[in-house]
Amino acid sequence: MSEHVHLSPLHTISATDAATWHRVVAASMARDLPGVPPPGPEQIHAQLTKPALDSRRLTWLATGADGVPVGVAGLRLFTSPGRDHLAEMELHVDPAHRRRGAGSRLLSAVVSACRAEDRRSLIVEAAADSPGEAFCQKRNFRLALALDHLILHLNQWDEAAVLRVAEAEHPGYRLTGWTGTVPDDLAEAFATAKNAMNDMPVGDLDYGSVAWDADRVRAMAQVIADRGDTLLTLAAVHDDATMAGYTEILVPQGAPPRVQQYDTAVVPAHRGHGLGLWLKAAMVRRLRAEHPGVVEVETDNAEDNVHMLAVNHRLGFRSYRRTREFQLDLPVA
Ligand SMILES: CC(C)(COP(=O)(O)OP(=O)(O)OC[C@H]1O[C@@H](n2cnc3c(N)ncnc32)[C@H](O)[C@@H]1OP(=O)(O)O)[C@@H](O)C(=O)NCCC(=O)NCCS
Repeated sequence: MSEHVHLSPLHTISATDAATWHRVVAASMARDLPGVPPPGPEQIHAQLTKPALDSRRLTWLATGADGVPVGVAGLRLFTSPGRDHLAEMELHVDPAHRRRGAGSRLLSAVVSACRAEDRRSLIVEAAADSPGEAFCQKRNFRLALALDHLILHLNQWDEAAVLRVAEAEHPGYRLTGWTGTVPDDLAEAFATAKNAMNDMPVGDLDYGSVAWDADRVRAMAQVIADRGDTLLTLAAVHDDATMAGYTEILVPQGAPPRVQQYDTAVVPAHRGHGLGLWLKAAMVRRLRAEHPGVVEVETDNAEDNVHMLAVNHRLGFRSYRRTREFQLDLPVA
């Protein structure tokens, strides 16, 4: 049965639009991602209205015949050189209104926008074995990357073992940390280390790469602060002042119990010395000290990223859900 669906692009997002968006996303996530806390209305408002780093966003709302919101779609258009072929979609239909064509209508609007913007690759994440996966397959997306999401429960972990790892000596290296923007004396070294993330496994995703410099790392920290979130970073610095590796945790606004792992990277010349494990263990110790209300850390890894998965398992992270990155290849004129 198909439903009359009206699509409206949202050019400016009011607090009411954000609340509507939140209701649809929360209902959709409750169905397909039980146990994953949806972002709060304020977080959604910030995501939809605050500038992102090197990208702009288009948004659509789908309503039914009676004007009731049934679905939302967001499209992130990357603007930096090396990634300006790429667009990333978020698409949710309220479970009460599924299988009536709303998702397909929203996708058509997204694909038209990709064409107008000369994007050759559209990517989207869906839970494994979910309606989202079936929809992507039906709509000619190809599976590009399998991700394992892991969680560390800080009320059921081997704290003493993790602290031993955090406190181990690594001759030639020291740990340093900051909140928000990197200190000026580390900015260049940090940008160089960030470029090491470009060899992260991304499966068959046409993900491109970005070149980091000191201005870009500062801009990223600013974007996060403007959203109201807090970025914690710990870095391992070698005696020769090279940044050998770093790890980042995002504490969302409102101090919820679950935080997100962002990057962890060790630059190739410094791999094989246990620095990744050391950094992550020390970050957990820091979280306990600075954010005692945090009880869960979530991270995701490509299923074939065996080294990072091994590090996470050593720390007590356990797999709890799987997602898939799908890609639609679009012909460009
Ligand atoms: C994916 C999603 C947006 C689809 O919305 P929808 O309005 O139900 O989609 P449509 O009605 O346009 O479905 C189009 C086709 O996709 C396929 N499909 C959609 N849901 C399916 C399901 N649960 N099982 C099998 N096939 C499915 C069907 O072939 C369907 O056509 P049909 O109903 O005529 O058989 C919705 O399920 C959703 O919000 N999921 C959670 C969010 C998500 O995973 N987003 C990322 C992936 S886009």
